[in-house]
Amino acid sequence: MNDLEQTARALVAPGKGILAADESDGTIKKRFDSIGIESTEDSRRAYRDMLFTTDGAADHISGVILYDETIRQSGHDGTPFPKLLEAQGVIPGIKVDKGAKDLANAPGEKITEGLDGLRERLSEYFQLGARFTKWRAVITSGDGIPSEYCLWTNAHALARYAALSQEAGLVPIVEPEVLMDGDHSIETSFDVTSRTLHAVFTELRDQRVHFEQMLLKPNMVLSGYDASGRAGVQEVAELTVRCFRRHVPAAVPGIVFLSGGQTDEDATSHLNAMNAMGPHPWELSFSYGRALQAPALKAWAGDAANVASGQAAYLHRAKMNGLARSGSYSPELEEHVAA
Ligand code: 13P
Repeated sequence: MNDLEQTARALVAPGKGILAADESDGTIKKRFDSIGIESTEDSRRAYRDMLFTTDGAADHISGVILYDETIRQSGHDGTPFPKLLEAQGVIPGIKVDKGAKDLANAPGEKITEGLDGLRERLSEYFQLGARFTKWRAVITSGDGIPSEYCLWTNAHALARYAALSQEAGLVPIVEPEVLMDGDHSIETSFDVTSRTLHAVFTELRDQRVHFEQMLLKPNMVLSGYDASGRAGVQEVAELTVRCFRRHVPAAVPGIVFLSGGQTDEDATSHLNAMNAMGPHPWELSFSYGRALQAPALKAWAGDAANVASGQAAYLHRAKMNGLARSGSYSPELEEHVAA
């Protein structure tokens, strides 16, 4: 097994998953605005410092995805964040795309940019300590969309990124996110996710990406957030597993779901239900942003005096999702949160 395969497997080690802390400046500002905190370089640093120095989190967290600013920042004791994570056995990763922009001639659809100069940026990130990368494509469902044009253009870019990342010695986390905004049915989500995965794995194969040395970070198959009669936990788990079994080669070590605006507890319950249906050809894990951070961000509220309660809230979610890796979570465990 080479280094990349080892890293990919370590990221989906039993009982552990990934913390996505790679919010761009625009996204973290939105999160801070929601609790009335000003987003400055120092407040962003202090917030990430709180998460990354949480005692015990490394029992449930295998890797952390950083943002360009964050990978260059340090903890309160002056240790650079990548070193601080490594010392706990947590693998540092980095978001390398430059965001989703409007796709030309395709109203309502997006294309992710960031391929120009990527080889040079990857080599710098490796020097800074990153051992894996992430690139997110955004697929929108709606009237007549997604178009095949949007699906294949994004899949092509994802595969170009993944091939360059492996060349640089970094495990790519390939993230095609089908958005769950809207009132569409779970059948529509299934169909759009299926079309997306078909395009993504075709391009990955054509561009000679090594499946053993990558992870997939997809959406779960859910009813649209505004749909009436939304599917329950068991149906979500069954349709999600069925969809991925049809499209994801068994050579891929793991599927690490994004939370994508689900409540924290839904994200945990869905992952738990899927793992309870196992074994599966790949590890089924998490790479959550909001679903790991929301209660911690609220408890912290930008005040250094609240660091301990922010850390307790983060540790609790990390633990719950760690249990969901083996189908050992149950909602009753939520009552034991140290508030
Ligand atoms: P969410 O879990 O908040 O969707 O974030 C995961 C992520 O990294 C999106 O790119």
